[in-house]
Formats: sequence, structure tokens, C-alpha cells
Amino acid sequence: MLRGLARTKLRKGLEVGRRIEAWQVNKTTRKQVGKLYKRMDSKMKKIGLVGCGFIGSVHYNAYCRIKGAKVVAVCDQDYKRAESLLQGENPAGNISTTNKNPISFNPASVEVYTDLKEMLKNPQIDIIDVCLPTHMHKEAVIKSADARKHILCEKPMALSLKEADQMLAAVKKNKVKFMVAHVIRFWPEYVVLTEYISKKSLGDLLLLKLQRLSPTPTWTWNNWVLDSKKSLSAALDLHIHDTDYILNICGKPKAVSSVGLKGVVSQGVDHIHTGYIYAGGPKVSAEGGWAYVANYPFRMAFNALFEKGAIEYDSMNCKMKVYEKGRPAITPVLPKGDGYLREIQYFLKCVETDRCPSIVTPKEARESLRITLAEINSMENGKPVVL
Ligand SMILES: NC(=O)c1ccc[n+]([C@@H]2O[C@H](COP(=O)([O-])OP(=O)(O)OC[C@H]3O[C@@H](n4cnc5c(N)ncnc54)[C@H](O)[C@@H]3O)[C@@H](O)[C@H]2O)c1
Repeated sequence: MLRGLARTKLRKGLEVGRRIEAWQVNKTTRKQVGKLYKRMDSKMKKIGLVGCGFIGSVHYNAYCRIKGAKVVAVCDQDYKRAESLLQGENPAGNISTTNKNPISFNPASVEVYTDLKEMLKNPQIDIIDVCLPTHMHKEAVIKSADARKHILCEKPMALSLKEADQMLAAVKKNKVKFMVAHVIRFWPEYVVLTEYISKKSLGDLLLLKLQRLSPTPTWTWNNWVLDSKKSLSAALDLHIHDTDYILNICGKPKAVSSVGLKGVVSQGVDHIHTGYIYAGGPKVSAEGGWAYVANYPFRMAFNALFEKGAIEYDSMNCKMKVYEKGRPAITPVLPKGDGYLREIQYFLKCVETDRCPSIVTPKEARESLRITLAEINSMENGKPVVL
């Protein structure tokens, strides 16, 4: 829903450059931004972003740095949250969301809605970016597909395979492009690790250990993420990042065997540690949990042991190191851009070139959900689950 007065106020606010980090740039930069508007042509993809919370702001900041995209509409059930997003305010979360570059479109030209149904009527929009709480993904994706919009949907795809299948059916029926934002596939350090594994530069992979630990997420809207019925807690909200990565590089395991903690900060699985069993393949494990105190820094890490070396990464010190037998340790050159930017750029390219995403296919996103659900099952029942 558009609110005339509020939007006029917002526009005025923007005009004087108030509180807008991205707008606090010198004249030259503004000129450059102005030129960019002129270059906007019919090829430019127009985005409607729904869910202006933590990850919505991360996505919005990424679009602001992409020349071939324009956010034309944002939607949040709370108008103020949508307004804050446009003003460059970043809600709290467990990763930094600073907007480093000037924005490539004018936030005052963005339509603000409080109802997705209304936003979907906007004929300008090519792509809907779903950044809603997980329990709302299914409905938002189906509605967007029925409105013939391409869809980028935050992970996890859904809460159940039934929901996932309904979403996939709607996407197929309407012939729209669909990608679940499994960002780790695009995260520079993990991309480099994938290359080492697939090219066997250090020989065969023998052992892979992944870790993802977070302070308890107390910052979400109405605390939805700690309601295990809406998020399936840390296992599905956090740990699925690593499950998805493992499936992508090692394929489907024969079985998963998980242990962990339940009911520490939510009613669900707050910490999970899984062994992925591959017949004759590498020994693979991943651990994810969010029962950590507020001053514990968010941490993602991996350790990979190969026949002829090892690779290690820890977000706590931001260092990735490659140790190769007989050579000095090196810090590899990483692909440019952060994971979110790269993921969004990739999806935009797919839409632009009329190709279905081949990185994170809908089937793969469903499989990541299926295996994570099996991990939860294994942990809750105290025995391995054969897949
Ligand atoms: N890829 C990642 O690294 C990553 C990180 C965090 C969250 N996520 C995922 O992103 C999704 C959102 O998580 P978040 O942390 O941003 O949550 P959040 O609570 O910060 O934001 C959710 C937003 O949705 C809005 N909203 C709720 N109901 C709505 C409705 N009916 N219509 C419009 N807006 C509505 C809320 O007002 C809020 O602004 C989840 O699926 C989560 O798992 C992904």
C-alpha cells in the first residue's frame, strides 16, 4: 500500500541527504549516480523485495551496488520497517550489513507496500525477492509465481517437503525462474574450496569439517526465528547452509547421524552436529548452533584435509589458508564481491539470459531441505537415518 504523505516526507528527507549513508557522497559521485539513472533501459531488471528485516536489508544493499538492477518496490507488513530500509538503516543481525557503495538508483522512486498481494499487481516488477520469515515462504512464492514473477527466495526453501513441492509445482506451472538463496555456494572462501576439491589440486579430499556458530538470534521480527514451528530452529535456519554446501560438493550421503541440543533457547534443535556417511568417500561432518551468548561472535569455519595438504578458513580472523606439502602456506586470491552480491548478480544474469539457475537448482534446494530434516530426525531419535 502506498502512503502519499509518508512518501513525500521520505522524498524530502532524501533530498537533503538526511541520515542516508549511501546518499552522503560528494557531488561527483551524485553526478555518476545521475548518469546511471539515464542509462536504465528496458533490459534493467526491476525488483520487488518483500520482508524488510535483517536479510531484506542485506539484499537491498546488494541491489544498490548492481548496475543492471533496480529495486522498484519494497513490501513489509510494517510500513516503518520498509521506510527504514530505504533510508539505509540496517536492522541488527549476526553479520555486517554496511552499504559500502553509493546506490545505483534513487530510493525516493521506490514504491512502498504493506501487502504482497498489492505489490504483485505492479506490472513493472520482473523479480520478487522473498526475504520473509521461513513459515511465509510457501505462500509468498506461490503467489509470486502465479503473478508470473521470477523469484529469489531466502533459504531455507520451506519448513516441509510438502510445502517445497507445492512451491515447485507453482514455479513449474507458471514457467518462472526460481532460486533459493543458498549463499554459501557464492561465498568467496567456499567457492575457492570447491575449486580445490573439484580440480583435486591437493589430491583427494580425505576429511571435511564445517562449523557455523551464532549468538542466539534475538533480533528477528516478533522473535519468529526462536519459535521452532516457524523456523525449525538452528538446524534448519542456520546449519542448512553447510548441509547444502556438503551435498553440492560430496553428493548425497548414504546416511546421516546427528547429535545435538534441543530446547536450550528455543523449543527446537538449537545445536546439531552431523556425520555425513559416504561409502569409501571423505569423512564429512558439520556443526551448527545458536545457543551462544550475545557477545560470542558469529563464526563460520571449515577445515579440509587432502592427500597433499590442508585448507582452513575461520570468519573470526577472516583468513583462509592453503597449506600444500613442500610449499609455503598461502592466502588464496578470492573472487570479487561478497556472497550476497554474487548470488544476486548470478540470479539476475539467469533472468536476463533466460536460463534456469544451474547453481542451486530448485531440486537441490529441496534436497538440502530433505537431508536437513533427516538430520533433525536422526538427532531426535538418537540413531542414523539411511537416505
Ligand atoms: N542467507 C542468510 O545468510 C540469511 C540470514 C538471515 C536470515 N535468512 C533467512 O531470511 C528470512 C528472513 O529472516 P530475517 O532474519 O531477515 O527476519 P526478520 O525478522 O529480520 O525480517 C522479517 C521481515 O518480514 C516482515 N514481515 C512479516 N510478515 C510479513 C508479511 N505478511 N508481509 C510483509 N512483510 C512481513 C517483518 O516485518 C520483518 O521486517 C528467513 O527465511 C531466514 O532464514 C537468511
